[in-house]
Amino acid sequence: MNAPSDPDLNIQAPAYVKNARLIAWVADMAALCKPARIHWCDGSQEEYERLCQELVDAGTFKRLNPAKRPGSYLAWSDPSDVARVEGRTFICSEKKEDAGPTNNWMAPAEMRATLAPLFDGCMAGRTMYVIAFSMGPLGSPIAQIGVELSDSAYVAVNMKLMTRMGRAVHDVIGTDGAFVPCMHTVGVPLAPGEKDRTAWPCNETKYIVHYPETREIWSYGSGYGGNALLGKKCLALRIASTMGRDEGWLAEHMLILGVQNPEGKKYHVAAAFPSACGKTNFSMLVPPKAFEGWKVTTIGDDIAWIKPQADGSLRAINPEAGYFGVAPGTNMQTNPNCMLSLKRDVIFTNVALTDDGDVWWEGMEKDTGHLPEHLLDWKGQDWTPRIARETGAKAAHPNARFTAAATNNPALDAAWDDPAGVRIDTIIFGGRRSTTVPLVTEARNWQEGVYMAATMGSETTAAAVGQQGVVRRDPFAMLPFTGYNMSDYFQHWLDLGRQLKARGATLPLIYCVNWFRKDADGKFVWPGYGENMRVLKWMLDRLEGRVQGHETAFGVAPRYSEINWQGLEFSPAQFETVTRLDTADWDEELKLHDAHFDKLAHHLPQELLDIRAALAQRIHA
Ligand code: GTP
Ligand code: SPV
Ligand code: MN
Repeated sequence: MNAPSDPDLNIQAPAYVKNARLIAWVADMAALCKPARIHWCDGSQEEYERLCQELVDAGTFKRLNPAKRPGSYLAWSDPSDVARVEGRTFICSEKKEDAGPTNNWMAPAEMRATLAPLFDGCMAGRTMYVIAFSMGPLGSPIAQIGVELSDSAYVAVNMKLMTRMGRAVHDVIGTDGAFVPCMHTVGVPLAPGEKDRTAWPCNETKYIVHYPETREIWSYGSGYGGNALLGKKCLALRIASTMGRDEGWLAEHMLILGVQNPEGKKYHVAAAFPSACGKTNFSMLVPPKAFEGWKVTTIGDDIAWIKPQADGSLRAINPEAGYFGVAPGTNMQTNPNCMLSLKRDVIFTNVALTDDGDVWWEGMEKDTGHLPEHLLDWKGQDWTPRIARETGAKAAHPNARFTAAATNNPALDAAWDDPAGVRIDTIIFGGRRSTTVPLVTEARNWQEGVYMAATMGSETTAAAVGQQGVVRRDPFAMLPFTGYNMSDYFQHWLDLGRQLKARGATLPLIYCVNWFRKDADGKFVWPGYGENMRVLKWMLDRLEGRVQGHETAFGVAPRYSEINWQGLEFSPAQFETVTRLDTADWDEELKLHDAHFDKLAHHLPQELLDIRAALAQRIHA
């Protein structure tokens, strides 16, 4: 084994790596991070299995019972490293106003000076994995290539499931292809002979840093999810959103689904909901019995890259190749396609371990009719129904996740890997709101849709570290993911709408939804999940001009009679509870819109303020 700063460290790239700039960068980064070894990932199944075995040997992975969950593993993270760290995420543009008021900012030079000593020797005693990945189908003109250098084997195996990764990507890079350099370290160097003291090394100090102008990502101190799998939020949203602004396209926190009616007509829908607000769920929706002959298929569950076409239509691809989804709440009733995706070849993180070597999380009792008698919870401690009752201890962390390849999904759309993407007919925005926001409304035009999205509020979830259940503005579900000034992003959407119209296109209809309104007892009124099909069907009926809806202050809403209620008991009174616009609530809501716009005053499009004024008038009319 090489000593940490071994001058003889062999950086020799495999013969298929032909890009001199990449090889030189890896050498530079190795000189900085001083790993003990370098492993160039080839992305093969054999390599995947070998790295998983190494993770088992290191105690990071437990191999699950192959009879119950073949090819699957469970990882428990450090209890301090369980979600995205928004407070430690930075957009380091040259000018502060280009990061805008919703992003943490530091001048690039200052950030580089801050990170330099942290990265110096940060991989000592560890392996540096060279992970070349493609966001989007291999070789597609819309795809972007990244190369992540990470000292985490957990990251390497997750990237294998989440992206197109390895040798084939080096073939795409060739001798002079471009790539986004992504540096990642858990930030725990090992002294010579020193062994890890935990199976999930991470550093209390964390930095998730983006340099949008030079298109670089530097992540320090965390091994979890979006903090560490840098193709996802860092590249495919924060960096890609700035690429989209510069090049005239959109990188969005959206699922993409296909929905085919019994006559065989197919539509494509993109939907933005904030983290842990139902994208994976909606993208795999199983229509209720009343919708016989309808078929919903998944193109993507988290990210959409949307490109305007010459004819003014929009086409979208899912840049990812796998799902990093929320486990708790998922079961055969809420999301059967997801459960079926998790049968084999899955990496689970922070769920509970059953006594027979399988996994468990809150919500699975709905399938079995009872709680397990005993588990090891996500912290490795004994869990019984009694302990849960007495202490409130959760078996799985609320942000426990699964990593599974898209090809595991029985509802995967045939076009999911098509470099040309799919044509988007409808765009949905939705937050998690106990009050105020109705089940569904349709924007009367593109600008009003942009307003609805720009002012969207949502209750915070376990997907990010911090207080939960607090309403905050989460414009376009992109608050933590827009890599530039939010008001410029609004302008980009408005400009795009105008350009599409100028090309003679009929723009996609835009909807605002809320599956999460609660009654006086704090219970969800809308049944959600598969029943969301009823709302989706109404939207498609609107698209075809089959239903009129009625004008409300906040867009066009369905009449009770326009929704197919077959097989569901949902009374007009319940419908009223989830659709009512309460004037007092909306007065409060408009104040929140105002405060939000005050914060975003720099470059805020006047158009949005005009729509705000008209909305206030309608609410009081
Ligand atoms: P990220 O991966 O964090 O971006 O989340 P996501 O938007 O993909 O959320 P996901 O579909 O994983 O759902 C998160 C949680 O919300 C799960 O616990 C779901 O069971 C729950 N959920 C999803 N859809 C619905 C719904 O229609 N109604 C209700 N009440 N809960 C839902
Ligand atoms: C989200 O938080 O929106 C996620 C999970 O999709 S993570 O990859 O951790 O960001
Ligand atoms: Mn997400």
